[in-house]
Parts: sequence; structure tokens; C-alpha cells
Amino acid sequence: MSAEYTPATIAEARRLRDALDREGKKLVFTNGCFDLLHAGHVRYLEQARALGDAMVIGLNSDQSVRLLKGPDRPLNNENDRAEVLAALRAVDAVVVFEDQRATSLIDAIHPHVYAKGGDYTVDSLNAEERAALQRAGSEIRILPLVPGRSTTSTINKMTAEKTGSRLRLAVLGSGEGSNLRAIVSSVQNGQLDADIVAVISDHAGSNFLKLAREAGLPAHFVDPGPNPRKLGEAAQKEIFDHLERARVDVVVLAGFMRILKEPVISAYSGRLVNVHPSLLPKHKGANAPQLAIEAGDAETGCSVHLVTAEIDAGRVLEQARVPVLPGDTPETLHARIKVEEHKLLPRVLSEWRQRGLPVRGAGES
Ligand code: GRF
Repeated sequence: MSAEYTPATIAEARRLRDALDREGKKLVFTNGCFDLLHAGHVRYLEQARALGDAMVIGLNSDQSVRLLKGPDRPLNNENDRAEVLAALRAVDAVVVFEDQRATSLIDAIHPHVYAKGGDYTVDSLNAEERAALQRAGSEIRILPLVPGRSTTSTINKMTAEKTGSRLRLAVLGSGEGSNLRAIVSSVQNGQLDADIVAVISDHAGSNFLKLAREAGLPAHFVDPGPNPRKLGEAAQKEIFDHLERARVDVVVLAGFMRILKEPVISAYSGRLVNVHPSLLPKHKGANAPQLAIEAGDAETGCSVHLVTAEIDAGRVLEQARVPVLPGDTPETLHARIKVEEHKLLPRVLSEWRQRGLPVRGAGES
């Protein structure tokens, strides 16, 4: 049996940096948890390594991963994580560190280039890390994350298959509630493995709420506040609290006619989905079927998309097409679009975990 891998020491990493420096070469440094390697990590590390002549990885210790990601992580201990990383062709050395931030390592190693993945900008880097990088004179390079690949999504897929864990859904709506009815039917006939744990409406007298009550679902009316078009701050917070209490995985906007803002938008980022009656990015906002007719479109349809702060602009998950027929009115067209919505929305929800989309408590990795 071969001996266990021993991670590099900080002094060894620094010696590597100084040796490269003498030759006018560059050391790249990056850091992270690297708990369960996937193609996204490998591609990221290849890109990072290409920024210099050798690369050292600062690997979060088991204790620091627990603090960053929760008590169930890491899946693999620090020596194993270091050994797997060190076997990659992009990686020259791995140093394990205890802090949640890599500040002390940056101070000790003085890398020429610091690579970071993801949604960061130079400005949104942790202030201490940024200060350490400035002291070290390191060039900061932000690399794009590879979409759809994350440790969390892999874990979600595995646990969903093993435990058959049901998605905890909240459905928000204001009107007729036909999409809610479609979701309820899919749950009842077993096509959608989910529990509807909250139904929320801003319209006390809506058919949406009536339907929810008739189906025996936990229905809740939220007073939207004094402005007839906007959802007031108190209502935004009340919805958030309600979702949190119900431990909701995914929030579905099914004809919710007011705009959701903070704190829901950020807290449920990636887990907040809307159905819209057009082929987005075409015809955003209200009256989409009418806009399609006015534009003379030969076809339109519906989109299930993630919700962000910008209206109808989040990532489209799936669409279905519907022809615009001669003589269509906005009403006849909308009715045909809804027939497709009622199939599309439950389907996307039933595939939620297989698509690697996040659920509650899933931080990205
Ligand atoms: C649907 O057409 C949906 O696309 C839009 O609002 C409508 C809601 O209909 N966002 P319903 O209340 O589900 O019948």
C-alpha cells in the first residue's frame, strides 16, 4: 500500500514562489473547499493555472469547511481532498489552512496571481483578503464559474435519489389559480413528488385562495399594504417569514401580480420560479398574449424562469410553444397558452433536483 499523501507546508509553497520569482515566472494561488471534485472545478483550475507557471491551492481544513458549509460537510477529509487535488495536472502543491479566509496564507506566500471563481468582482472580495493581496502585490483574476456544475447540485441529486425526499413548495398567486390547480393535480397523481407547504395570495377574494382552501392546503392571505399596485415592505417581510416558517425549498409564482423584492429575492435566489405567458425574453411584463398578437407573431408560448430583481429577466428553465391563430383575441390565445403552462410548470418542478437546481440550505460550492 502506498503512503498517504502529505500536504505541502506554507514554507514549501513560499519556496516554490521564490524559486519561480527568481526565474521571472509566476505563481498562481487559489483557495477553496474542493470537497467533491467535478468538471467545473477541473476546468476552473486549468484556467487558473494558465495564468502563471505553477499553482498552489489553499485548501480549507475540515474544521473551516464545517464553519463555511455546515455540519454535514466536508464529505471527504482534508488529506483526501488534498490528495485528489494534487493529482490534477493543473496543481503543483496543496496547503491546508485553518481559517475561513485565506488572508494569512496570502501574507505568507505572496503569490504573483490570485485566482477566484464565481460571482465575485474585485470589489466584492472579502476586504481582508483584498488587503492581503494588495500587500502581496498579487494580481487578482476572477474566473467564471462553469454553469450547472457544483458540489451542492451533485449532493442534491444523490440525496434525492436515495431518500426520495419531497420538494417543499410554496405557491404564490393573485388570480384564477389554474396553475395552482395543475400543480395540485400533479402532486395528487404522483407525477410531482412534492408537498405544497404554503399557498400565499395578496388577493383575499381570489379564486386562487378559494382553490387552495378547497384542496385543504395551508392558505394564507397577505395584506399587500396601501398602494394598490405595490407590495409594501411589511408584506414583503411577512411573506419571507411565512416561507421560512414553512421551510420552503422552492417558491413558485403562479400568477402573482405584485413584484416581490427583498428579503425574498436574495434568500430564495435560484429557488424562486415564475411562469410567464410568452417566449421570454419576448413580451415581458403584463399583457404578454396581447403584445404577441399586436407584434404579429406567428407563435408565442410560455416560459418557466428563475426570478431575479429584474422583472421577467431571470434564467429561462424551459419553454413551450403555442401558435398564434388567425382571429385570436388576447383571451383565446392566453387560454391556449395556459394549457401548455399547466403541463410545463409541474414538469419543471418534478425535475427540479435532477436539473441540479438548489433547494433549501444548499449553499454553492
Ligand atoms: C398565467 O398565464 C401566468 O403565466 C401568468 O399569470 C397567469 C396566471 O394564471 N404569470 P392562473 O392564475 O394560474 O390561472
